[in-house]
Amino acid sequence: MTDAPISFVPTGDTGRQLRDAFGRFATGVTVVTAQGPDGPSAITANSFASVSLDPALVLWSPSRTSRRFDLFTNVTHYAIHVLAADQHDLCWSVAKDRQGFDMDTLGRNENGVPILADCLARFDCARYAVHDGGDHAIVVGQILRATYRSGTPLAFYGGKMVRLSEEDLS
Ligand SMILES: Cc1cc2nc3c(=O)[nH]c(=O)nc-3n(C[C@H](O)[C@H](O)[C@H](O)COP(=O)(O)O)c2cc1C
Repeated sequence: MTDAPISFVPTGDTGRQLRDAFGRFATGVTVVTAQGPDGPSAITANSFASVSLDPALVLWSPSRTSRRFDLFTNVTHYAIHVLAADQHDLCWSVAKDRQGFDMDTLGRNENGVPILADCLARFDCARYAVHDGGDHAIVVGQILRATYRSGTPLAFYGGKMVRLSEEDLS
């Protein structure tokens, strides 16, 4: 049996319910990296989405309340890493600390952007547009290079990391 659905009109007081409703949408998890004035910086983001094939565009949404907002809305180049299932520690450490990754294994792409090893996919981006998105911004990037491998993705659902079943429904 399923619980009765919860229905509400979003107001200033329904933030918790709105988060819970958003959390019904299962996503992958990405880490976005950029070179800041004081070194490499990263942020965990599940707001990533593909946008356009030609031109090749993707988006993600940094929160205006983040201390990392100014950096990630102003940089001209950044990299979006799609995390593999075994990278959940990286997801949480970067969520807590903008330098919560292993500096020793950090690489650089053609534009000098810091890049992380062992991700499932990476999109090396150039700033294309930044749009208003309420208490977030919508950052659209043009993909300069895409890199990917086979493997199991890290998934996020209901505020938690979840394991994707390999069972195929189609
Ligand atoms: C799974 C997950 C997804 C997240 N997605 C986003 C996101 O899309 N946009 C965002 O601004 N912050 C997102 N965050 C929060 C940031 O990673 C980070 O925790 C937050 O910016 C910390 O605050 P600070 O930047 O002020 O240090 C996410 C965190 C987690 C754990």
